[in-house]
Amino acid sequence: MRVAVPAEIEANETRVAATPETVKKFIALGATVAIQSGAGTTSGIPDADYTAAGATVLPTAAETLADADIVLKVRRPGPGELGNLKRGAAVIAIMDPYGHEAELTGIAGAGVSAFAMEFMPRITRAQVMDVLSSQANLAGYRAVIDGAGEYGRALPMMMTAAGTVPAARIFIMGVGVAGLQAIATARRLGAIVTATDVRPATKEQVESLGAKFVAVEDDEFKQAETSGGYAKEMSAEYKAKQAALVASHIAKQDIVITTALIPGRPAPKLISADMVHSMRAGSVIIDLAVERGGNCELARPGETFVTENGVKIVGHLNVPGRLAATASALYAKNLYAFVETMIDKETKTLAPKWDDDLVKATLLTRDGAVVHPNFLTKAD
Ligand code: NAI
Repeated sequence: MRVAVPAEIEANETRVAATPETVKKFIALGATVAIQSGAGTTSGIPDADYTAAGATVLPTAAETLADADIVLKVRRPGPGELGNLKRGAAVIAIMDPYGHEAELTGIAGAGVSAFAMEFMPRITRAQVMDVLSSQANLAGYRAVIDGAGEYGRALPMMMTAAGTVPAARIFIMGVGVAGLQAIATARRLGAIVTATDVRPATKEQVESLGAKFVAVEDDEFKQAETSGGYAKEMSAEYKAKQAALVASHIAKQDIVITTALIPGRPAPKLISADMVHSMRAGSVIIDLAVERGGNCELARPGETFVTENGVKIVGHLNVPGRLAATASALYAKNLYAFVETMIDKETKTLAPKWDDDLVKATLLTRDGAVVHPNFLTKAD
């Protein structure tokens, strides 16, 4: 059983899918592990550390992937990588398949079993495999650090001989995994923190972290959470009430961090251009939803810029990748935990249980075809 970890090919992908720690665990399960030279460099892991853990480091992707039964990646394999994959291999990554159906068909054509880690069910057994949580938590933390870095003032209140520095006001919009970590981090840095969400369960969570909850708490709000724990798209009437509340609040904030997402929909627009224009010069907006269309009307993917009225808008891509070493360590553990469930410990071979809930939820392609129900075309 051979596990292969090629270097990521996307320009802004700094993470890697295995660490020396997970390499050792795979070897303990009876696998051999091949790592492409340089795969860990941007996560602070030199080739020598993989070698010391028992992996074989190989110079090219082709040599690394040759004859691999299990291929671990951060991102979906690109067309240039498909030719190197063995038919029947398991390829496990964050596949980002929505809107990329043609790429998915290409992966199916390579005859591999492709698994999308982000489709892992959020059930207790799979918590250790939940890449959305492991990465969103780090993004929430990093957003506050980025905000503090971009803001030209201190965050905590300081009483000094030269005068008193007021505490910064930080507003977190969207209180899922990323938002909760952002609140906790902003509080630790001494800011005055407020937060908003449309799911009522978040009110108590916000308050338990020592922040103030700000939201339109009407009848629609009471029913905004789906049975899966996610937010619904809100009505035009609710959005108008929410915008009015946010407009008066946001004008007084120093740093705003937005994390709001709705599954399968573009990110809700929560900050209009007018709201940005109401903010003071020197304020900062960090839009973590920028890859999904953005929560701020003016945010631009991959760009940081200052508006005419002096507000800095930050639209970093791949925010977990800005903490690559930590993000890789957690992601690699998520992957190991999942792969372990697909290995037959007796025969030391890859043996997925095709009727297992975790396999069914994540399996996109198998035996040359797209098999995930969300991507079957009518002709199938
Ligand atoms: P997400 O990334 O889908 O969305 C982030 C946040 O944005 C959510 O809190 C959502 O309610 C909020 N939001 C959406 N529309 C909004 C709007 N118009 N205005 C303000 N806020 C808006 O959410 P995430 O982080 O994936 O968490 C979703 C749920 O999953 C939460 O209930 C979380 O506690 C739960 N969860 C459960 C886990 C488990 O294993 N059981 C693991 C991780 C999360």
